Amino acid sequence: MNTIDTSESHALSLDAADSLAVFRERFLLPPGKIYLNGNSLGAASKDSLASVQRVIAEWRRLGIGGWMGGDPPWISFAEKVGAMAAELVGARADEVVATGTTTLNIHSLVSTFFQQQPRRRKILADELTFPTALYALQGQVRMKGLDPGEHLLLARSADGRTLDEDGIAALMGEDVAVALLPSVLYRSAQLLDMGYLTRAAHKKGIVIGFDCVHSVGAVPHDFTAMDPDFAVWCSYKHLNAGPGSTAFLYLNRRHFDEPPLLCGWFGYEKERQFDLETDFSHQRSAGGWQVSSPSILAIAAAEGALKIVLEAGIERIRAKSLGLTSYLIGLVDALLADPPYSFRVASPREPERRGGHIALERDEEAMRVSEALKGMGVVVDFRGPATIRIAPAPLYNTYHEVWRVVRCLKEIIDRGLYEGQARSRKAVP
Ligand SMILES: Cc1ncc(COP(=O)(O)O)c(C=O)c1O
Repeated sequence: MNTIDTSESHALSLDAADSLAVFRERFLLPPGKIYLNGNSLGAASKDSLASVQRVIAEWRRLGIGGWMGGDPPWISFAEKVGAMAAELVGARADEVVATGTTTLNIHSLVSTFFQQQPRRRKILADELTFPTALYALQGQVRMKGLDPGEHLLLARSADGRTLDEDGIAALMGEDVAVALLPSVLYRSAQLLDMGYLTRAAHKKGIVIGFDCVHSVGAVPHDFTAMDPDFAVWCSYKHLNAGPGSTAFLYLNRRHFDEPPLLCGWFGYEKERQFDLETDFSHQRSAGGWQVSSPSILAIAAAEGALKIVLEAGIERIRAKSLGLTSYLIGLVDALLADPPYSFRVASPREPERRGGHIALERDEEAMRVSEALKGMGVVVDFRGPATIRIAPAPLYNTYHEVWRVVRCLKEIIDRGLYEGQARSRKAVP
């Protein structure tokens, strides 16, 4: 029986007891909105803007001198902010660098482990992963002169929402070189058992990497204990570093001597980079997988954003995230499950199997319901055919906002407010 207290005063009392509530004032939230879209684009923070302003001031004052004279110097800024991210994911400082984009980093790391592997000719992924990973992997298979239909194995989902770790492990054969899997699924928010998958892959001699875009900043990681081979993630979702901001790349130390294939001058041995030799020799750290000049302004935004996350502490962030999503599930079950509301929670209900957002499904009119929500100032996103994703961010959202979004959904159905919305989707989220 559901015994959740659905009153507004209860929501307010949860906020009053929230030790992370103080962080909300560090953010600059879109005025007049309930912003619940941090799984797509996290909110701006004063700390991020201050870091960017500092670098802009250095650029004005020092010009090119900022590469050595910035504070910290721009020349090693990608590694410095990488070390901050390493602290967050339980990696060693030289195993993480701020570089590139998630998709580019997938190419860079998978090429290292796939193109140079003569015997094993398959890559393992899954059908629910964010498609950019599949596009990149198809390209990697083709670059090796192989057919993705045969050489890119996809673990299938029984219910279209979740994956079964045993089913994935069953596909880990002797012919697989690399497995690339998501930590948290972008639609349902299922959190995979990464430790189990890593052990299963290593038993079969497979190199395993994770796309952690939907977990870093929301879920604690301990890469040193878990020991995966590589990982990639962006900074613009749960890390709040701004649109298209830098991505991060983790490479386990045991692979530092592997040669990168997407070589570029910023991956050159640090001490000798400016000798400008014609033969490439990479830095023995994650930094060796950099390609081009680091995006200093973007990395500055990530520096400021990471400062907040590290200060708040990922364990506390996770605890509040689960508090918010469990509260949302409870309210949906109590108030929105029965007809005429008919919303279903499509995310795992077990907290340990859930990332930082909740997927709500509704067979009828889900897209127009999500548009109606936007019309009421609630920012969420829609993934067809019937999924509304709601991401209460522990650093800047409140229990009261979760309570309000449920009230808005109820009102949309009670008053048929979705009927005024267009039936076609706009191109952008
Ligand atoms: C799981 C996942 N991986 C990768 C990406 C795209 O990353 P990028 O644009 O940095 O290549 C996204 C975008 O939403 C995503 O959800």
